Amino acid sequence: MTGSDATPVRIDTSRPHPARVYDWWLGGKDNYPVDEELALRILAVDGTVLRGARANRRFMQRATRVAAEAGLRQFLDIGTGIPTEPNLHQVAQGVAPGSKVVYADNDPIVLRHAEALLHGSAEGSTEYIHADVRDPDTILRLAAESLDFGQPVALSLVALTHYLGDAADGDDVHGLLKRYVDFLAPGSWLILSQVTPDLNPEAIGKAAEHFRRSGTPFYPRSLAEFSRFFDGLELLGPGVIPVSGWRPEPEDVAVQAEGIVPVYAGVARKS
Ligand SMILES: C[S@@+](CC[C@H](N)C(=O)[O-])C[C@H]1O[C@@H](n2cnc3c(N)ncnc32)[C@H](O)[C@@H]1O
Repeated sequence: MTGSDATPVRIDTSRPHPARVYDWWLGGKDNYPVDEELALRILAVDGTVLRGARANRRFMQRATRVAAEAGLRQFLDIGTGIPTEPNLHQVAQGVAPGSKVVYADNDPIVLRHAEALLHGSAEGSTEYIHADVRDPDTILRLAAESLDFGQPVALSLVALTHYLGDAADGDDVHGLLKRYVDFLAPGSWLILSQVTPDLNPEAIGKAAEHFRRSGTPFYPRSLAEFSRFFDGLELLGPGVIPVSGWRPEPEDVAVQAEGIVPVYAGVARKS
């Protein structure tokens, strides 16, 4: 575990945190009453959120498997979340036990549970970095202690970019992602998902407002804004699409049948 040694794990239970709210929607137990309260408030305005969380988690698992089956052996996952099995390293090392995985998240509760993420295969490696995605220098430097950035890496930010603003908000999320992608070797992949207002603007507008009022800035993005993350990369089929439609497997059919969820997903390759 890196970036954490000097960091005392202080869990703030006075306000909701995205990782814990998402954990509540996934049916997890690593959340507090403030998280449950916000999770329920958002559920009341956006009835798709429970299956949206499940569909999003399934996308991460499918995209990771597809990347591993395509030969990727190195994975950098930023905005990892509280462990919920199967975790990314279990999927990647299930395909190729020698796969190397580096996780990064900035939430102290994810750090507290990171032990659960570090029991990977004996042949591969799994590491955890406690850091903010807005600090690419730190994340890439620490990730380079176990990943070889001269070789392809699957970089995933799944359900993370909607917590990051645009240039006008001081984050410049598109510029930030470009910094990461520019660092990657040809053959690397970019795996992304994020909430969109396109499909149900009123509900998503209210959900975003609930997030903001609780202290978490939230930025749903249109198809065009989300697609721009993949500029200069080769989008893999089926392109940018609502998350449950991205290469669904038989166990996704039930979630798909419940209806579309307002989360876009896409996977692209750097040539
Ligand atoms: C909705 S969860 C998604 C978890 C996982 N990627 C998945 O899709 O199942 C978003 C995660 O991003 C993390 N996160 C939010 N803002 C972040 C930031 N600025 N830097 C690093 N991680 C962040 C949260 O702590 C949380 O764990």
